[in-house]
Amino acid sequence: MQALRASMACSAMASLAPCRHGRMMASASRVAIPSASPAVGKRSLCVTRAQAQDVKEQYETAEHKGIVFKPMKAGKEQLEQVASAHLTSSSTDDSLARLNFAAEQEVGINEQINHEYAMSYQYHAMSNFFNRDNVGLQGFAAFYRVSSLEERAHAQQLMDYQATRGGRVKLAALAAPPPDYNHEQKGDALYSMEIALALEKLNFQMLYSLHETADKAGDAQMTDFVEEMLAEQADAVKEISDFVAKLRRVGKGLGVYEFDQLLATKAQEMYASLPSPV
Ligand SMILES: [Fe+2]
Repeated sequence: MQALRASMACSAMASLAPCRHGRMMASASRVAIPSASPAVGKRSLCVTRAQAQDVKEQYETAEHKGIVFKPMKAGKEQLEQVASAHLTSSSTDDSLARLNFAAEQEVGINEQINHEYAMSYQYHAMSNFFNRDNVGLQGFAAFYRVSSLEERAHAQQLMDYQATRGGRVKLAALAAPPPDYNHEQKGDALYSMEIALALEKLNFQMLYSLHETADKAGDAQMTDFVEEMLAEQADAVKEISDFVAKLRRVGKGLGVYEFDQLLATKAQEMYASLPSPV
């Protein structure tokens, strides 16, 4: 309120000019003075020299000197640190953006990046299996190929977040996925989809752990970020569960062929909604 009053006084001082009555006229474009009619408005814009002097004195009193920007003690210390900082960072590990971001959070994000990449690698292997000349289920191949891209996109999302918070991305080694997905009783289609479900559920669990890490650190911004990923992951688990249930119904013959057509359409929809890599 004090700042507002001072601001209005300041505006008034800046826009005062003598009118033809020998009084001071305030510019309507600078001072918003409400009026019921043009006549009243004109009268209200015309102020006496005494009134102008009042405004000037009010602006210059000690009371209004408080509007000058005075940083809090903590802010002052930060400004002093900025003033004394080197022009260039001494190490690429030094972060300029990092604030209230614990080592556990940084490590947790790197672990999640590794898991997303591992899923991407696994889906890629399954895609190549179903694209074999003696398997010939191109719908499954396309679905797992796009799923691989999707997991890669999740890894990128986490890497971007790590950079945003001033953490450092550290990629780890990936285990090689099996090349074959034959299963005598279940068949390759159902067997691969059950593996996919296990992976998605594991990922769900890992995101819960990452959320717990952020929660323990009292990091509301990071819990919010992880919650968005958890919502998407819950949908993924439900969708793959539905696929497993359907594949258990259709058996290993013609039903799998028809399910393959469904997955081809699904893969196209998923590919269309992938985020841009840049
Ligand atoms: Fe994912």
